[in-house]
Amino acid sequence: TLVRISDDALARAAGADALAEAFRRKGCEVHRVSSWGLHWLEPLVEIEGQGFGPATLDDVDAILGGDSGKSVGAIADHPFLAGQIRYTFARAGKTRPLSLEDYAATGGWAGLQRARQIGPEAIVEEVTHSGLRGRGGAGFPTGIKWDTVRKAPGERKYIVCNADEGDSGTFADRMLMEGDPFALIEGMAIAGEAVGAQQGYIYVRSEYPDAIRKLEAALDLCADVIAPFRCEVRVGAGAYVCGEETSLLNSLEGKRGEVRAKPPLPALEGFLGRPTVVNNVLSLAAVPHILADGGATAYKDAGFGRSRGTMPIQLAGNIRHGGLYEIGFGVTLGQLVNDIGGGTASGRPVKAVQVGGPLGAYVHPDQFDIAFDYETFTAADALIGHGGITVFDDSADMGEMARFAMEFCAAESCGKCTPCRIGAVRGLEIIDRIRAGGRERDKVEQLGVMHNAPKAAPRDAADEIALLTDLCETMKFGSLCALGGFTPYPVMSALRHWPGDFVEDASTVK
Ligand code: NAI
Ligand code: SF4
Repeated sequence: TLVRISDDALARAAGADALAEAFRRKGCEVHRVSSWGLHWLEPLVEIEGQGFGPATLDDVDAILGGDSGKSVGAIADHPFLAGQIRYTFARAGKTRPLSLEDYAATGGWAGLQRARQIGPEAIVEEVTHSGLRGRGGAGFPTGIKWDTVRKAPGERKYIVCNADEGDSGTFADRMLMEGDPFALIEGMAIAGEAVGAQQGYIYVRSEYPDAIRKLEAALDLCADVIAPFRCEVRVGAGAYVCGEETSLLNSLEGKRGEVRAKPPLPALEGFLGRPTVVNNVLSLAAVPHILADGGATAYKDAGFGRSRGTMPIQLAGNIRHGGLYEIGFGVTLGQLVNDIGGGTASGRPVKAVQVGGPLGAYVHPDQFDIAFDYETFTAADALIGHGGITVFDDSADMGEMARFAMEFCAAESCGKCTPCRIGAVRGLEIIDRIRAGGRERDKVEQLGVMHNAPKAAPRDAADEIALLTDLCETMKFGSLCALGGFTPYPVMSALRHWPGDFVEDASTVK
């Protein structure tokens, strides 16, 4: 019997290794494949297309005997998968991550082969035609970025993959690197072909040991296929800000991970001062499909408005059906959270949804009809970022979440610019004063939270809120990078939608 069990880190954490061993001991042939992204069902066992999960060691005999109560039927027909359009994750659940044979049998290397035939200018044209925009969060058109690097003068150019996936509730980069590493490497080799670069670096966060191991093994296996392009893995040291591209480049050069002012753009002066493509994992992994025959048009057709193609959306937090959902832009938040995600895991009402990581706005269920697309979210004072959706039920304290945003910014700030370095600390203090109210003000001072703050005359809540709003404006428009610039989004959205979580009398918040 051929049994398929994922070797993705999430499945392994849920017990997949022991389960695989148990099936082997029963004489089964076990293939360790990538994860389907049905996370709430991991560890998921697949036999002849039929799925069983979440399975435990005690279920092995029943599953092999065909009478397990854990059957979820044919996986490919599962409602969570049936509604998806999978381009970037086309191989998810289907192939063995480090099998060159599986990769080639599922269309692998077709994009690179074609890229080599059509040449740099045509590659950039195809990527531009597909409408692909940077999946790291900013949504900048990939074709334009590549064209800038292609046209930049210089003998030596680089391709850098940003795999420092730091947003809370995101895991698509990790899944891709662990489950389909050759797709990322092929995308980088195509980028190299397009801009005339022969060296690539994948900057992976140290918290992803499985991804690092798989990428290194995959690079060894396919070195001949991608040659003369070469690629190496570099491991980060745990700073969130090193996901910001210029800070990442500094770290890659062995320097302190501090943000560089732009301009110059990395496209013109990036790694070691040379023209450099810096792209997120998902942007690069979408490219092989786009470059394969007819892929660009098919990709473009899946989009909505100016957001073309598909987005691997990550459903996380307090959600019943957490996992990876790749679909064309345009799906609404309500569909994602309630219909696809099944509401909260706790069964309590949804209170808030944070989209786009710790710097993303908190969205109220009243806004659930907004479409998942770059422009619609910007218009709603929110961002889709890297496509992470974290769900909170009605037990969440949104004042506490706003406080966390400032605390996070203060802890992770690189210190280069004042609005972020000092603003986040002052912001934390103001939120504490608002939440403590007049009554508790003395207690806050005793706790030392305000140890650096000048002794000012006590202000009432309305004044403190005005001060916080003013500070957030300063951080938003005065910060050098997205860390300080986006922290106001979770803070102000929480205050706007749930004022009662900050002050007793919500009418104080205008
Ligand atoms: P940005 O808008 O400054 O730049 C976007 C990209 O386009 C950069 O690579 C930039 O170099 C490039 N670019 C801009 N103009 C160009 C031109 N004329 N020619 C060629 N290239 C050009 O945004 P930034 O600061 O790079 O990213 C901010 C985003 O990062 C936020 O929207 C946030 O969602 C996201 N983010 C993602 C995280 C993750 O874990 N994936 C974590 C934190 C933030
Ligand atoms: Fe550094 Fe914060 Fe300024 Fe970004 S906003 S450059 S992280 S101090």
